[in-house]
Amino acid sequence: MSQAPLTDRFGRTINYVRLSVTDRCDFRCVYCMAEDMTFLPRQQVLTLEEIARLARTFISLGTGKIRLTGGEPLVRKDIMELVREIGTMGLRDFAMTSNGSQLPHMAGDLRRAGLHRLNISLDSLDADRFRNITRTGRLSQVLDGIDAACEAGFRGIKLNTVVMKGRNDDEIPELIEFARRKKVDISFIEEMPLGAISEHDRSEAFCSSDEVRGIIRQHHELIPATEDSGGPARYYRMPGSQIRVGFISPHSHNFCATCNRVRVTVEGRLLLCLGNEHSVDLRRVLRGHPVNDHKLRQTIIDAMDLKPEKHHFSTNGDVQILRFMNMTGG
Ligand code: 5AD
Ligand code: SF4
Repeated sequence: MSQAPLTDRFGRTINYVRLSVTDRCDFRCVYCMAEDMTFLPRQQVLTLEEIARLARTFISLGTGKIRLTGGEPLVRKDIMELVREIGTMGLRDFAMTSNGSQLPHMAGDLRRAGLHRLNISLDSLDADRFRNITRTGRLSQVLDGIDAACEAGFRGIKLNTVVMKGRNDDEIPELIEFARRKKVDISFIEEMPLGAISEHDRSEAFCSSDEVRGIIRQHHELIPATEDSGGPARYYRMPGSQIRVGFISPHSHNFCATCNRVRVTVEGRLLLCLGNEHSVDLRRVLRGHPVNDHKLRQTIIDAMDLKPEKHHFSTNGDVQILRFMNMTGG
């Protein structure tokens, strides 16, 4: 089954796939969704069997790392069965991005099902603010979820914080202390212009990774980590702690040259770049060729030629990509 790895026109090897398993979520984070969202009807969404088939096919094409995203992956019915199945496929790295709300009762099972790593969103440690940013979320539930994840013995846990001026930028030092205390990594993310939102002005809320580093440096020395994560985050370490602090800076740091990833939306659209609309409909191929994987494999191989060289996000507040993040997978 094994063959030459997937490569694109710019010589990049694609060995990391992010699969969105649902567009639904129990939260409505202000940077991710509109308050009033319409979700996809069932027949447009890939079945768990179709998602497993995609995972198997990508792995046969050299993929060593899969991340399940959403929406919130843990609100998809029977998600544990998919995790269990992908958990047996021999991945080097099997991860999930979650908002944490279901982790109090699911973290242990996810680990036992073969999931290696978790990213958990955490934008505030203040219950009222947390509610305000997520619109529906309960902080205490997510904190319990983080504790459950810590006890479950994952290979790695990382917190993700989207930093917004006037909203949570003053909590950066507290979030750092929280991560140090829990002994988990933390990444600070610049908000990306995905989906039209009216709740806040993205250009006013924009807080660059340089500013965030400046704030942290008032409390801790930041030492650039030597290892290359291969991803868009730049990592640092601090004296007196093992944890890593990451910065994801789609605006101020163009990481496209080393991009190793593609995404599949829950509708089966293969997205070649988060910041561009180039895509290929894999659902049509999955459903048109239910038995033999040949056409699916060839479609994926051919799609690599469409991968753009780079994305162009700007901070002037113009929405450049109409998809919301819940369609794409964070
Ligand atoms: N910009 C940056 N990050 C986003 N996320 C969702 N929407 C955006 C956006 N517009 C990220 C959050 C969340 C993950 C699921 O996706 O970090 O943790
Ligand atoms: Fe849900 Fe994550 Fe989007 Fe928040 S950022 S609404 S938790 S999918």
